[in-house]
Amino acid sequence: MSEQASASTSPSGFFTEENSVATVNARMGKDVDPRLAEVMACLVKHLHNFAREINLTQDEWDFGIDFLTRTGQICRHGRQEFILLSDTLGLSMLVDAINNRRPPGATENTVFGPFHVEGCPIRQMGDQICLDGKGESCLFIGRVLDLDGNPVAGAKIDVWSDNAEGYYDVQQPGIQPKWNNRGVFVTGTDGRYSFVGIKPVSYPIPDDGPVGKMLASLVRHPYRPAHMHYMVRAEGFQKLVTHTFVGGDPYLESDTVFGVKKTLVAPFTRGEGGNTLWRSDFDFVLARPGQTR
Ligand code: BEZ
Ligand code: FE
Repeated sequence: MSEQASASTSPSGFFTEENSVATVNARMGKDVDPRLAEVMACLVKHLHNFAREINLTQDEWDFGIDFLTRTGQICRHGRQEFILLSDTLGLSMLVDAINNRRPPGATENTVFGPFHVEGCPIRQMGDQICLDGKGESCLFIGRVLDLDGNPVAGAKIDVWSDNAEGYYDVQQPGIQPKWNNRGVFVTGTDGRYSFVGIKPVSYPIPDDGPVGKMLASLVRHPYRPAHMHYMVRAEGFQKLVTHTFVGGDPYLESDTVFGVKKTLVAPFTRGEGGNTLWRSDFDFVLARPGQTR
């Protein structure tokens, strides 16, 4: 409740420019959930101070309301504009960082994004996940390990990527085969995984809505560097949500959602002697609950 007590309300309880934060926060009832009260009081404080600091004009706030309205209106199944807004403002990566402080050596998290689909069929190690026959084939191979280097058995590795034209299957229903470039793999006692997909390509996030307009107004491009998504879940370990990025991608240092971390840039080498054009080796190191930095 510290935000509520941080400035005094007017004796009348009426709102003024000077007492705005305290007056609004003092309106909260006594039995509000303590965390909700803390979050809302802090939000009100920062919103009011933002408006004050920037001398927000009525026209600007009207535009803000209209922008948020349009952001909500374009949302539908498969299109979550508020996630794009959070991602492009760096808020998703900040919340992710705050909630995933791992010790050195553990694989880092990055942004989840809006294109994961729960329920993808479990595949056999080595299986092909590219179902549209497009793109340059790539073997993805490595191990799931704990922080001591021991293999993790029974780890569920959920993978997803765009197709060679830069679209996820859920963006093109009826055009791409269902579950194109997706798969779930479960490690055995050796902790090893492998599957065949395509060497990922960079792509623009959906930019035909208000977030795309915002990026254009800020002279920002909408591209993400090429990456493969992973979600690794294993009993007794923290959930890992991450990507591997293709080294040398022109957008690595300007990812529109700020998702790149140095440790996640993976080798993509020519798949010499194998059945695929490319090969990417990467080990995932899981932290246990409580293992933190
Ligand atoms: C993605 O990588 O799938 C993604 C992440 C954030 C926004 C849009 C797409
Ligand atoms: Fe992606």
